[in-house]
Amino acid sequence: MSNVFGELLRVTTFGESHGPLIGAVVDGLPAGLPLDEAAIQADLDRRRPGASELTSPRDEPDRVRIVSGVFEGRTTGAPVALLVANEDVRTADYAAWRDCFRPGHGDWTWWKKYGVRDWRGGGRLSGRETVARVAAGAVARRLLERRGVRVAGQVLALGGVVARDPDLAAAAASPLRCGDPRAERRMAAALRKAREAGDSLGGIVEVRALGVPPGWGEPVFGKLDARLGGALLSLGAVKGVEFGDGFALAVLRGSKANDPLTPRGFASNRAGGVLGGISNGEPLVIRLAVKPTPTLGRPQATVDVRGRARTLRVPGRHDPCVAPRLVAVAEAMTALVLADAALLHDARRRAGPDSRRRSAPRTRPPRPPGAMDGRRSR
Ligand SMILES: Cc1cc2nc3c(=O)[nH]c(=O)nc-3n(C[C@H](O)[C@H](O)[C@H](O)COP(=O)(O)O)c2cc1C
Repeated sequence: MSNVFGELLRVTTFGESHGPLIGAVVDGLPAGLPLDEAAIQADLDRRRPGASELTSPRDEPDRVRIVSGVFEGRTTGAPVALLVANEDVRTADYAAWRDCFRPGHGDWTWWKKYGVRDWRGGGRLSGRETVARVAAGAVARRLLERRGVRVAGQVLALGGVVARDPDLAAAAASPLRCGDPRAERRMAAALRKAREAGDSLGGIVEVRALGVPPGWGEPVFGKLDARLGGALLSLGAVKGVEFGDGFALAVLRGSKANDPLTPRGFASNRAGGVLGGISNGEPLVIRLAVKPTPTLGRPQATVDVRGRARTLRVPGRHDPCVAPRLVAVAEAMTALVLADAALLHDARRRAGPDSRRRSAPRTRPPRPPGAMDGRRSR
């Protein structure tokens, strides 16, 4: 399995939906970065189920504990280990359909690949897995903040209702993460209707990164958009990613699709902040297509582990739409990719010809451990 992510900023996540805990180990952080549980907790609270009547009623407090890598409020350079307990676990809810596969979920493909099945809420396939990503992403945000980079997201559409002129700040305060109050009311109504019908809805999530300088990302396989796309598509229920005007560019002429360059910078941002896989200094604008939640309260045709036809109806605790909770998770993955890109950018520059000319003669003693601290890597 692939549970490790990132090149210089490496994240390992672990834990299942109905195991005792979920966790992440973040390695490769510079020493000296200010970090405490409160900063991570704020991001986890924005992802929490039970935070709104329109999300899963699974009521997890999601209290994070830092158990390694931080001393007196600063990273030490050692791996930062983060733990979040699973407290509102109701395995019995899943027992009745432990042999059945959920259409639209990953149960069947996991079974085909591994021949074992954690039927308790989907194990690693559960949206609960994203707790670890949000905790790790909150650490990455601290690194980005020091470089003036901010990552924020919102729900642009839900159940066919589209937000008009949404405001990112308003989205942060809204239960559905939508920055257009009128659209949010219609989204909430659509969600209630879908839930009553035992059905679910899809949506579009947008993530923006502001303050990214020109130069992050690398040709050929390390393109920033390729890394962000891979990271965001690694999230359950995300079925499409576009940058800037994305799919709409496909029907434009080049004369309309290009962002003109002026002495003061780009005159527009249809590219969404990346050209040739390298950030161009404009805001990164990324949109995600989020499919409707697979688990439904209405009957669905499926098969069981012996291949027999069954009808599945799963009562209870699932999100009628994943998009609102996905906002914090998509922000976290974006922050992780950008923080890694920032460290890679610094490392390549240090190793480049300019820095060699400036570097000390070989006879000089090596730098003491810890010299690559937060200040130096900025
Ligand atoms: C934050 C989050 C919460 C989710 N909650 C649910 C849920 O309550 N019920 C469900 O069936 N799927 C849920 N999902 C979606 C499934 O995890 C996902 O659809 C499934 O693993 C299949 O993967 P795929 O859709 O990427 O192919 C959630 C996903 C995320 C990211």
